[in-house]
Amino acid sequence: MKTMSLCVTVNGESKQWTIAPGDLLLDVLRREGYFGVKRGCEKGECGACTVLVHGKPVNSCLIFAAQVEGGEILTIEGLAQGDTLDPLQEAFLDHGAVQCGFCTPGMILAAKALLDRQPHPTEEQVREALAGNYCRCTGYRKPVEAVLAAAARRKVPTEVAR
Ligand code: FES
Ligand code: FES
Repeated sequence: MKTMSLCVTVNGESKQWTIAPGDLLLDVLRREGYFGVKRGCEKGECGACTVLVHGKPVNSCLIFAAQVEGGEILTIEGLAQGDTLDPLQEAFLDHGAVQCGFCTPGMILAAKALLDRQPHPTEEQVREALAGNYCRCTGYRKPVEAVLAAAARRKVPTEVAR
């Protein structure tokens, strides 16, 4: 089988892996132990496999690993700082937005991408950001509340008047 080398940064760590040119990013990440990247529909519809590539949400079931050569990938495993959960993770727990948890990694990463570009989103913007992440358990209300609460908690510094 033809193989190639893939160099990426995952959750801040440099990785070099041997892959096949046709390997999907989803398969490579799970093979390397990132089980927070969930295998759902494998058709780009459910969002369970969402990871951030250079800060943008990507359905890892839809792209070849080779396409992210040199890229910076964030999976749910990289979100907490040691024992300290990200405000989004805390808010999802506090608001009962995690039930079976299957959709949760993808949903939190999609929400992180939103808050990184829009620290104070409206409810509509949150719903739009989560639109590609299916959840069969929560009815979406609690995840939306959690994202809004996390935005409030994140304490993004406001610009100081000069
Ligand atoms: S598994 Fe990738 S979108 Fe469903
Ligand atoms: S918590 Fe079960 S699918 Fe969302």
